[in-house]
Parts: sequence; C-alpha cells; structure tokens
Amino acid sequence: MSLIEFSAGAPLAQRNLSLPKVTMPALGEMKRQGKPISALTAYDYATARLVDEAGIDVILVGDSLAMVVLGHENTLSVTVDEMLHHTRAVRRGVRRALVVADMPFGSYHGAVGEGVANAVRFVKEAGAEAVKIEGPRVELVRALVEAEVPVVGHLGLTPQSVHRMGGYRVQARSIDAVLQLQADAFALATAGAGAIVLEGIPREVASAITAALPIPTIGIGAGPDCDGQILVFHDLVNLTFAPAAKFVRRYGDASALFRSAVERYREDVEHHAFPSDAESYHLPASARRLFSIDPDAAGARDDPDAVVNPDAREEMSEEANQA
Ligand code: KIV
Repeated sequence: MSLIEFSAGAPLAQRNLSLPKVTMPALGEMKRQGKPISALTAYDYATARLVDEAGIDVILVGDSLAMVVLGHENTLSVTVDEMLHHTRAVRRGVRRALVVADMPFGSYHGAVGEGVANAVRFVKEAGAEAVKIEGPRVELVRALVEAEVPVVGHLGLTPQSVHRMGGYRVQARSIDAVLQLQADAFALATAGAGAIVLEGIPREVASAITAALPIPTIGIGAGPDCDGQILVFHDLVNLTFAPAAKFVRRYGDASALFRSAVERYREDVEHHAFPSDAESYHLPASARRLFSIDPDAAGARDDPDAVVNPDAREEMSEEANQA
C-alpha cells in the first residue's frame, strides 16, 4: 500500500495546504498511482510563490533563465553563480513543490568530481532538492546519487547541445536514434536518476519510453503520454517576445497585462492623475493647525524646524504613529 495519497481536484487554496511536500520519491509514487506530475520553471521569488501556491508539483530553476530573463540568445552563457542566485530566490518562495536546479553548461561537462562539487553547491548554498543535467551522463548520475544529490535527467532535444544538433530540432526521428534514446533513458534510470525530462521528441517515442521506464518522465514537446508535463513559465504567460513553439499553450497574456498597466501609469503621471490626494501622506491635524496659523509655513518647507516647534513635533509623531 502506498504511504502517500495525492488528492486531486480540491480548490486551489486548499490544495497547497492539504497536499504533502513534494519529494523525489513522491514523484515515483505519483507515477505508480497514475497521477500526472505538473512542472513549471520559475526564476524569482514572486513567480515561484505563485507557481507553488497554484499547486504545481515541481519547480525547475531552468537555465532557460539565460534567454527568458537575462536576454541571451541561447542557454550556454549562464553561469553557476547566476543560477545559484536565482535558485536561492525561488527557494525562498516555495513551500510545497520540489525545487530542481538546472546545472548550467560547462558546470558538469568535465571531470565527474567537478560536476558533483558544483551540484553540491546548488543543494548546500541555494536549497535545491535536486539538480537536472542534460544528456546521458551515466557516471555522473551515479556519483551524484552516491553524494546524496537527487538527479533529474534530460534527454532528446537538449538545448545545451544546440551547436552539436545544429539548432533546436526535434530528436529521435530515426530507428537508430530512438533505440539510442531508449537505451540512454534506461541507463540513467539504472544509475539512479529520479525522473527524466523528455524534450522535443515524437509522441510515440515518449509514450513507449514512459510505459517501459520505472521512473517518471516529464515531457516538453513530447506529447501527452509522459508521466508529467513541464513548460517554461514565460511561454505559458506570453512573456517571451517571440512566436510560441508548436508544443506551447499560452494560458495567459502577461505581456498585454503588464504593457497596459505600465502605459496607464505613464499616462496618469503625465496628466498629474497619479498620485491622488488619497494616495498621499498627510500631516497630523495638530501640525496642520500650526501650518494654518503660520503665515511663513509655505515658504519654510525646506526647514521643518522653522515650521513646527518641538512640542508640536512630539504631538505630530504621536498622531502619525496612530494614523
Ligand atoms: O531550462 C529549462 O527551462 C528546461 C526546461 C525546458 C525543461 O530545461
């Protein structure tokens, strides 16, 4: 019998409170129970809080940060320090979801020991509960598990391989490539990976791997048959300034929302319509009385002591504290 029961369909506010903390073993349990795993990226405190409070199971601090937050052309240039900085911010906003940190390009591509040392930093210095690495790095996965760092693998279209792949292309379209991908997925699972992201592969391939693999698959551009789905937060809410890929569904239009809010603010400032009197602080009544009997008050604004005597100031601060 399972130790963890995941309720489904509860109202949002209750969901987050009633559901247990998501852990890597819990993801395996969800697969066994046939409960879909929801995952999203987040890169800062505010969005991480929103995503967590909406009941999303896994929050990935993805290296897509490089593109959607930092404005780089691809994911390759983001550094360990930048990823640590954002992982810490996300960590502070999350109570329930599993926080996974993406290991950036170059931080695990050399000696296994160096990869482990960098992964440990994400756990120790930023509070990540797992790291994600791209490609079939079986020896590294084994070493990370040995070092008590839970690992999420990432196969198929791996964006850190953009130059080798010659662009962001759908992978595993030939029989040989499919067989290789299946072998890689099994090797990662056997080495101890807790879950695998499958990106940019045909639905049929993701479906077959998901059915056969003992650990959960989390798909992005891999069809609906994976154990879970992940999207980039900025894709979900239309904050990418680019046409959406085929696999993206826009669930909101934050660009339109933010643009209109900012434009209305600018117009109000330009028309002296912001702030209003109600949005301004006011002197307490005693000080206002003083202002009205002091004919020099308006001209003495630069020197508060010239307008308000010490007794009145004491009275003012008491009133201000009560206001
Ligand atoms: O960096 C990222 O956002 C990712 C997801 C797309 C899986 O790796």
